[in-house]
Amino acid sequence: MKHSYVHGYSRKQLIRLQDQAGTLSELLHEGTRYPGGSRVLEMGCGTGAQTVILARNSPGARFVSADISRKSIQCAEKLIRENRITNVEFEQADISALPFADESFDHIFVCFVLEHLRDPERGLRALIRVLKKGGSITVIEGDHGSCFFHPETEAARRVWKCLVDIQSELGCDSLIGRRLFPLLRGTKLKKVRVAPRMVYVDRTTPGWVTGFIKQTIIAMVQGVRARAVASGRIDAKAWQKGIRDLYKTASPGGTFCYTFFKGIARK
Ligand SMILES: C[S@@+](CC[C@H](N)C(=O)[O-])C[C@H]1O[C@@H](n2cnc3c(N)ncnc32)[C@H](O)[C@@H]1O
Repeated sequence: MKHSYVHGYSRKQLIRLQDQAGTLSELLHEGTRYPGGSRVLEMGCGTGAQTVILARNSPGARFVSADISRKSIQCAEKLIRENRITNVEFEQADISALPFADESFDHIFVCFVLEHLRDPERGLRALIRVLKKGGSITVIEGDHGSCFFHPETEAARRVWKCLVDIQSELGCDSLIGRRLFPLLRGTKLKKVRVAPRMVYVDRTTPGWVTGFIKQTIIAMVQGVRARAVASGRIDAKAWQKGIRDLYKTASPGGTFCYTFFKGIARK
C-alpha cells in the first residue's frame, strides 16, 4: 500500500499509539459520549487505541471503526477482543472512497487523521456525506508548532523540525490544529466549536513524563529518523544529539508543552 502516512505501521508505532491514547484519554475524550443505540463511525481507527476508549465510554453505542491499513485493523481487532468489547465492528476503507450509504451514521469521530491527508477538506466532505442531518462530527488534531519545552536546545529543535518538514514533504500538515476551525467551517457544518487541549508535563506528573514525552513525542520523532538521515536533512550524529537533548525535557528539571485541538460540529 502506498500512501503518505508518515509514522508507518511498525510494532513500535503501534505501541506508541496505544501509549498516546492511554495517556491522553481523559484530556481528549472528556465530553465525548454517544447515546445508546446510536451508530458511530470512527474513521482512521489505526490500531484501535482510541477505539477501546470510545467503546468503553459509550457502551450502548455501536461503532464502525475503519482504516485504510489492513494490518492496523487486524491489531485493532485483537485489542478489542482482548478487552472483551463487543460494540465495535471493523471495516477496511479509504476515507476518499467510503463504502457506506449517505447519512448512515448518527455521529463521526476522527482523531489524528486529517493531518495525514493531502486534501483534508475533501476527507471531511467525504465523512459529512455519510453523516445524518443533525449528527455530530468530532475531530481531534495536534499542531506541532504548538510544541515548546525546557531545556530547549537548537539540536532538539532540529530533530523536531525534521518531523514537521518530512510530513510537509509528503503533502501533509502536522500544523493542522490551528486551521481546524476554518476547515470545519469551510464545509458548511453548523455549530462549529474548537477548543485547545493543552498538555503540560513536568516531574510532578511522572506518568506523563513517560507516557507523553518519552513514549509519544520522542517515539514519534524517532519514527522519522531513517527518512531524515537518508534525505541528508540531518546527519546521524546531529540526530543523536537532538534526541539526547529531547530526553532532557523528561529529566527532573525538564518541562514539555503541546496543544491538541478538538473540534465539534453538527451537520
Ligand atoms: C496517527 S494514526 C491515528 C490512529 C488512531 N486514530 C489513534 O488516534 O490512535 C492515523 C491513521 O490514519 C490512517 N489513514 C491515513 N490515511 C488514511 C486514509 N486515506 N483513509 C483511511 N485511513 C487513513 C492511517 O492508516 C493511520 O492508522
